[in-house]
Amino acid sequence: MAPATPQPEILAAFEAAKGFMPVGEGLALYAAAAEAGALGLPLLEVGTYCGRSTILLADAAREAGTVAVTVDHHRGSEEQQPGWDYHDPETVDPEVGLMDTLPTFRRTLHKAGLEEYVVAVVGRSPQVAKVWGGQAGLVFIDGGHTDEHATNDYEGWAPHVAEGGLLVIHDVFPDPVDEWTGQAPYRIYLRALASGAFTEVSATDSLRVLRRTGPGI
Ligand SMILES: C[S@@+](CC[C@H](N)C(=O)[O-])C[C@H]1O[C@@H](n2cnc3c(N)ncnc32)[C@H](O)[C@@H]1O
Repeated sequence: MAPATPQPEILAAFEAAKGFMPVGEGLALYAAAAEAGALGLPLLEVGTYCGRSTILLADAAREAGTVAVTVDHHRGSEEQQPGWDYHDPETVDPEVGLMDTLPTFRRTLHKAGLEEYVVAVVGRSPQVAKVWGGQAGLVFIDGGHTDEHATNDYEGWAPHVAEGGLLVIHDVFPDPVDEWTGQAPYRIYLRALASGAFTEVSATDSLRVLRRTGPGI
């Protein structure tokens, strides 16, 4: 069966949204989300930023009759802070003097007409993972790039991937020259495969889709 693709207006909203994910990876994420949606469980994202990838998860959730849950403290990752290449001055709250991507995220979802299919959780990934009780049809890890953050995301969220559900990891760069923010996402990808709990389904540029085929992490 051909992979599911988003409607043109959803793809246009994704392309118009602030963020870093290229279209090819977005289409692979959408196809994974559409497939995982069949499980009828929430589709969970770590790393909302301004909602670019959330649009795709939300639309797949809408089609499947479920919701997308997206987690972010909205203060930005290391490489998005002032002085770094991925910094966008428009994301700084002038009153607080810190990044705050929540207002832009809310505008993104509103414009795309997808607000009612998303539960946005503002908080630190490990703290949210600790209080999150249920299973997820899909877990998409696109948070911090340090080993500490990527490991926390894996250990906090991979246990929630349901049997037959999908674990999707972004920014997996096997060659260190390709990724100056580090290879922590690559290391959790390797760990997932080595665990025996996950089997690779697809690789699209730096996006890896794995399926839970056994217990544990
Ligand atoms: C690469 S961006 C996400 C990009 C987004 N998925 C997109 O498609 O545009 C990473 C996000 O992870 C968030 N983040 C980093 N570490 C986090 C943590 N420990 N808990 C919650 N959010 C975190 C940052 O605030 C940032 O918004």
